[in-house]
Amino acid sequence: MPPISAPVRAMLVLGTRPEAIKLAPVARAMAASPLFEPIVVTTGQHREILHQMLDLLQVGDRIELDMMRERQQLSTLTARLIDALGEVIRERRPDLVVVQGDTTTALTGALGACYERVPVAHVEAGLRTGVLDNPFPEELNRTLIAGMARWHFAPTPRAAEHLRAEGVPESAVFITGNTVVDNLLWVLAEDTGTSHFATGLRRVLLTLHRRENQGDVMRGMGRAVRRLADRGDVEILVPLHKNPAVRETLLPELTGHPGIRVVEPLDYPDFSATLAACDLVLTDSGGIQEEAPTLGKPVLILRTTTERAEAVEAGVAKLVGTEPEAIVNAAVALLDDRAAYARMATARNPFGDGHASTRIVAQLATAFGAHAAAVPPPASPAARPSPRAGATAAPS
Ligand code: UD1
Ligand code: UDP
Repeated sequence: MPPISAPVRAMLVLGTRPEAIKLAPVARAMAASPLFEPIVVTTGQHREILHQMLDLLQVGDRIELDMMRERQQLSTLTARLIDALGEVIRERRPDLVVVQGDTTTALTGALGACYERVPVAHVEAGLRTGVLDNPFPEELNRTLIAGMARWHFAPTPRAAEHLRAEGVPESAVFITGNTVVDNLLWVLAEDTGTSHFATGLRRVLLTLHRRENQGDVMRGMGRAVRRLADRGDVEILVPLHKNPAVRETLLPELTGHPGIRVVEPLDYPDFSATLAACDLVLTDSGGIQEEAPTLGKPVLILRTTTERAEAVEAGVAKLVGTEPEAIVNAAVALLDDRAAYARMATARNPFGDGHASTRIVAQLATAFGAHAAAVPPPASPAARPSPRAGATAAPS
């Protein structure tokens, strides 16, 4: 790439809550550097829960699209996004497009950029379960984006190894840590959030939303949570995703129990403070699987696969699957066995040191021939565990 004299115009495309959280520190790092001019495009794939995050993105130029439709189908959402993003990219002609993760917004952002011959940087590249339809459609999306990106920012050595094994050249893969850690440390240091736990009981934080679990599987998970609440010594807090398919499944199972409190999605500072205050996390969320280990909070992953096996190997997460019996047993075991709890509640975090965004922006500066010294230097890289594929839950 030839050296360029004007600031690099980087278009960051995001549309869902986790993309806002994970790209905000990259946008901040770019805005703080004279070498970059960030343009943030929000597709509005999510509406309310993305708007809750927009304060994080008060940097640079912002273009807001309003693409969400109630109960949107993947095919129509994809078609509408590629059309709208193609137009924005054609109009603004950025020097690069940055996408994050595995959502429909990320897939269409990358594809739209490729169609306009704009190079793509992929943040959080290389996570794999090895099961193409789980998580669905995220494993497929992330794999497809790898075929389009010029720069692959892998959060861990394992993710980098997946990319190399798929034929991505070594020179295009950079191990950076996950930007979710950057933002979590930043928001906790800001200290503006409040925990939403209300009692002195054992504090359990629950989130569920995954598409592949919606329906009967999620209903069974709801029943398991209710059985856990029957113990009487836990406060289970559930910031419920806005997705109506999630709400109509979970609300009948979770409401009306004194041990369970269902609330609207929390804004990011409050969610982070709530996570920091909890004793145990039950979740199918990707981002929360990465945040909880940062704070040494034991996580029970309510999924049959995970592309974040590093947390399981670090001992702070357990992949318990989606069977009600397995969920109740795993939670009870942790709540009742102090030694088992203490073993998991270690603050060993495999997802980074809080400097991922700086590394990403420094690497992009180098790629565009600018002087990387204008970006603060990254800290030393994390230790390298041996790479392996994503984990799969043992049958219960
Ligand atoms: C999407 C991502 C998933 C990510 C999740 C984060 C895809 C294919 N999936 O899944 O990877 O883990 O976001 O939360 O991109 N809705 C609202 N208000 C909102 C947000 C959603 O009403 O603020 C409802 C709408 O009816 C929408 C539905 O939720 O149709 C589903 O949203 P969608 O973005 O299609 O998928 P998610 O399951 O949220
Ligand atoms: N989060 C939040 N408020 C909530 C629940 C989650 O701010 O009520 C944040 C959380 O800190 C994490 C992200 O949302 O960074 C995870 O989003 P989600 O679970 O929707 O998506 P996933 O990470 O599974 O793609």
